[in-house]
Amino acid sequence: MRRIAFLSMNDLTDFVCDDDLARPALAERGFEVETVPWRADVDFSRYAAVIIRSTWDYTQHLQDFLHALRRIDAQSLLLNPLEVVEANVHKGYLLALEAAGVPVIPTRVVARLTAEAVPELRRALGGGELIVKPTVGANAVGAHRLPESLDADALADVVAACDGTELLVQPFLPNVLTQGEHSLFFFEGALSHAIVKVPKAGDFRVQEEHGGDIRPDPRPAPDLVAAAHRALTSPPFGRPLRTALGRERPPLGAAADGQAVAAVAGAPLYARVDMVRDAAGQPRLMELELVEPALYFRTDTASPGRFADALLARLGPPGGGV
Ligand SMILES: Nc1ncnc2c1ncn2[C@@H]1O[C@H](COP(=O)(O)OP(=O)(O)O)[C@@H](O)[C@H]1O
Ligand SMILES: [Mg+2]
Repeated sequence: MRRIAFLSMNDLTDFVCDDDLARPALAERGFEVETVPWRADVDFSRYAAVIIRSTWDYTQHLQDFLHALRRIDAQSLLLNPLEVVEANVHKGYLLALEAAGVPVIPTRVVARLTAEAVPELRRALGGGELIVKPTVGANAVGAHRLPESLDADALADVVAACDGTELLVQPFLPNVLTQGEHSLFFFEGALSHAIVKVPKAGDFRVQEEHGGDIRPDPRPAPDLVAAAHRALTSPPFGRPLRTALGRERPPLGAAADGQAVAAVAGAPLYARVDMVRDAAGQPRLMELELVEPALYFRTDTASPGRFADALLARLGPPGGGV
């Protein structure tokens, strides 16, 4: 058996994690999984690959996390690759994708939120309700809605809660409350499965840790699949897309303004594309999750096999060299 590590955190209490569901499929393909916290002081060269999986506490410890990943990268095969992770931990990558023509939710980055800046941000983003959230974040921590009706005291509370953090500002897409957030999962660039996440009544956060309802979506709508492919094949993360016939299509190239967006070296083993439909019904990218997306194996019994096949394709047969 080849040993691989699932990189996790010290304490997964309060999180839903179904990565263990991939163990049997990986074992069938000759992989034995050990779960290792990212802070663990172990020799990672004992693993044929170290797969970032449930490291959801990194957002408060970004530099320590990146430091740990660089050490791991020097000792083993880190997946997703270090360059992909470094370019994906800060959600400013959405601006690069937007520049490359991907339909993202309109996004502004502000170094810190001030009450005075909100009217102009509202104007710039179409005039309705806004949402703010940290540029480095996970699990909806630090996300706040700013309804148009927000009074000065309530706004001051949000500004205080944001506490000088660098933020993304976006229009709030109300379809998240009814249709939910669509997540499509790709392994080695090929669509594996899809889900829809709908928040519980009275909440806007779709995550199950916040009471959200997770449903399999066995036949994701073609426009969702197309938008997800676009996000995955465009710079900066773009890479050739494997078609059903095994041919490869080149990445979609330059940005709308003709400026090339620098491509990130290294291709993701796994990707989750999160989208919400806008008022016109068009899919809009909320996140391209390439660091530690929950993969919701429980929603599709064949998905662990596809994940394991992708890893086998990446690593090659045992003893086959690198
Ligand atoms: N523009 C938006 N419109 C509607 N809901 C949003 C928007 N941005 C975020 N949300 C809600 O907040 C949650 C967290 O935001 P997200 O960008 O996914 O960050 P993360 O998952 O990394 O915390 C989303 O899952 C969704 O429920
Ligand atoms: Mg999210």
